[in-house]
Amino acid sequence: MHRICLLPGDGIGPEVISCAEQVLSALPLEFEFSHAEIGYETYQHLGTPLPDATLEKIRTASAALFGAVTTPPNIQGYFSPVVRMRQSLDLYANLRPIRSIPHASSRPGIDLIIVRENTEGLYSGIERLEDDGNRAITERVITRKGSERIIRKAFEIARQKNRKTVHLVHKANVLRQTCGLFRSVGLEIAKENSDIEMREMLVDTCAMELVRAPEQFEVIVTTNLFGDILSDEASMLVGGLGVASSGNIGADAAVFEPVHGSAPTLVGTGKANPIATILAAAMMLDHLGEKEQALRLQIAVESSIAEGQLTSDLGGVLTTDQATKNIIQRL
Ligand code: NAI
Ligand code: MG
Repeated sequence: MHRICLLPGDGIGPEVISCAEQVLSALPLEFEFSHAEIGYETYQHLGTPLPDATLEKIRTASAALFGAVTTPPNIQGYFSPVVRMRQSLDLYANLRPIRSIPHASSRPGIDLIIVRENTEGLYSGIERLEDDGNRAITERVITRKGSERIIRKAFEIARQKNRKTVHLVHKANVLRQTCGLFRSVGLEIAKENSDIEMREMLVDTCAMELVRAPEQFEVIVTTNLFGDILSDEASMLVGGLGVASSGNIGADAAVFEPVHGSAPTLVGTGKANPIATILAAAMMLDHLGEKEQALRLQIAVESSIAEGQLTSDLGGVLTTDQATKNIIQRL
């Protein structure tokens, strides 16, 4: 029995989470679903976008599935519930699989995963203004502990998925201290994992190579900001936001989500593509050890795409519900 905490959020979040719930319920597995509040609507009636009760529900669940939230216009005291959730639960690894899907908007032959450090780096949150506001400083924090656990995670994933290489992506030639530490930790951990080859690559080269020859990558591990940018870049090689999913993994909790936001203009139109969230649910199953059902779900999604059963973002005519029902039938 898996206890799944559903976090619908704002905008199209509730629509796509409901689709994923229907799909999961169609599998021969036991789930107990609970719902928790997050986002701008939650803020409007509870005064916080991330109640403590939500964090507690995620902590006690086997895993959580999150839709999306809307960022409101500047409100004093409002904070990003997504960033806060990742920090509060110490979800240090952000996983973004990038796989070719059988469709025209996807380049063939790509099957890689980006493992992004999710808690430190340039997103440390340590910022200040000096010189009467004429000098702005953000501190980039890299720790040995943070680097070790994310790089170990990348090797662990490579081994689980039978991959032969891990690319350690950094900019240690310029960022000598921060990327220097990340790199030297990487070299140490590579020695403990000699069955897998570690290749180093500078981040600008990696951005270029992802466009030129993405087939060369299997696992990429990198720091927070670099991973944020490279993963969005890479997602466009294989179909974009309607199909891009991610996972946030910590030692005690895991939250899976589509990469897209709350798409306010799509609410109620039936145009939201549920596939990104359904693939996030498949990642969640994989994480929970349900490898076989995760693969079944992935195959059902891919075959629906291959046969042109598409929502309008991919050039088709199906509504959100029709696309979901189509996938359930294939299961
Ligand atoms: P967005 O991802 O919501 O939308 C970007 C574009 O992609 C829009 O044209 C939208 O219609 C389309 N799109 C998004 N999801 C889709 C889906 N499932 N099917 C078909 N088309 C889809 O990003 P945008 O417009 O920049 O932000 C909207 C709101 O979402 C903002 O308040 C933003 O702050 C928030 N946001 C939240 C995220 C999260 O909760 N993790 C991530 C990104 C943005
Ligand atoms: Mg991003």
